[in-house]
Amino acid sequence: MATLRLGDIAPDFTQESTAGPIRFHEWAGDSWVVLFSHPADFTPVCTTELGKTAALAGEFARRNVKPIAVSVDPVDSHHRWVGDINDTQNTTVNFPILADADKKVADLYDMIHPNASTTVTVRSVFIIDPQKRIRTTFTYPASTGRNFDEILRVIDSLQLTDSHKVATPANWKDGDDVIIVPSLQDPAEIAQRFPKGFKAVRPYLRITPQPNK
Ligand code: BEZ
Repeated sequence: MATLRLGDIAPDFTQESTAGPIRFHEWAGDSWVVLFSHPADFTPVCTTELGKTAALAGEFARRNVKPIAVSVDPVDSHHRWVGDINDTQNTTVNFPILADADKKVADLYDMIHPNASTTVTVRSVFIIDPQKRIRTTFTYPASTGRNFDEILRVIDSLQLTDSHKVATPANWKDGDDVIIVPSLQDPAEIAQRFPKGFKAVRPYLRITPQPNK
């Protein structure tokens, strides 16, 4: 299939999961979604990743985000592994894990990178908005566990920049100063949107307090 790019509609599918069959777009509803793949059940890094996702359930919910994991293991394996994740990571896995034994989702989302492994998915992340558009992708190798605080940080940036004419600088986190988008030039609109003012370091680099704080 063609490479999925930012702004594309996330492909729909129906697949088995630990929560029963899932029709993806219907399941997503009006929420944001983090769809993330892991190489295999009962592996150490994956165990910590799914445990961390479960521990951050409140943070995902607060942002109207549903996490959903996927690997090519069957659903009975996922169910047994969830017990291990809960035991070892001191948490309760409360999101579905897709059982993609026929690689339907892996193929649709290009999650198998044959020069890394011909059989299992790499660590892909797709952040999908409520209109089902792909807004961010990450790809990590099997040996490197992902930073789920970074995933939340990107979602904060997307949700902020969707509703205000700002962009977020390097290493920004919620509450830090932001950048007024260069396309916004009307002084009256700038004054109305950013009543706390801004600092023009350069004409194209205008720093302002985060407007929704
Ligand atoms: C892991 O999750 O620990 C892992 C999975 C596949 C390859 C290497 C590590």
